[in-house]
Amino acid sequence: MVPTLCMLLLLLFFIIYSVSMAFFILYYKPQNPNYDVKEFAVKSFNLNDNTLETDFKVSVEADNPNDKISILYEKGSMFDVSYQGTRICSGSGPEFQQPTKNVTMLNISLEGKNDLNSNVKDSFTEDQKNGKIPLDIHIYVPIKFALENSKSKIIDVMMKCYIEVDSLKRDKKSKILNKICYYKVNF
Ligand SMILES: *[C@@H]1O[C@H](CO)[C@@H](O)[C@H](O)[C@H]1NC(C)=O
Ligand SMILES: *[C@@H]1O[C@H](CO)[C@@H](O)[C@H](O)[C@H]1NC(C)=O
Repeated sequence: MVPTLCMLLLLLFFIIYSVSMAFFILYYKPQNPNYDVKEFAVKSFNLNDNTLETDFKVSVEADNPNDKISILYEKGSMFDVSYQGTRICSGSGPEFQQPTKNVTMLNISLEGKNDLNSNVKDSFTEDQKNGKIPLDIHIYVPIKFALENSKSKIIDVMMKCYIEVDSLKRDKKSKILNKICYYKVNF
């Protein structure tokens, strides 16, 4: 008798769970936010001897396409830029709440002071001369989905962009020549 009752309760639990999940998906229609690197500007850029000191401003467009779910950007986001495997600068984004159906431009300040080995430095000088500098941008943002009165657990959004810019010069907006981005969301 008891095992049958347990089975029934388990079955009931699964039915309720499936129905509420289906309701959640149909009613809230959750969609992943989208991000795009729109602009790359240089505030300062100094290569002295082998030390590279940089201050970049990257503008990332964050698009929340949901019409019933707002997005909370939590503490601890990380943005960094590397050149040929050497990280040259990093920064973090703001904590804020993004309303439903909203597109916001995030301006991220990325600063760094790093030593380049001489191979990397030579290749950088060469790329700068040729007007084609490949950069890797890594983005990590912890977000939460917020419904009317509840919040999801933290969802990790990770993005990797490979971009090519024409130059890195002080007080200049770099032109993005090429851009390929990969995007991953860990629920
Ligand atoms: C989008 O959200 C941001 C951050 O909350 C807000 O400042 C901005 O005004 C919103 N944009 C629109 C078009 O509602
Ligand atoms: C980010 O930069 C863009 C373009 O440079 C500007 O229009 C926008 O107001 C800036 N946003 C914030 C929050 O500073």
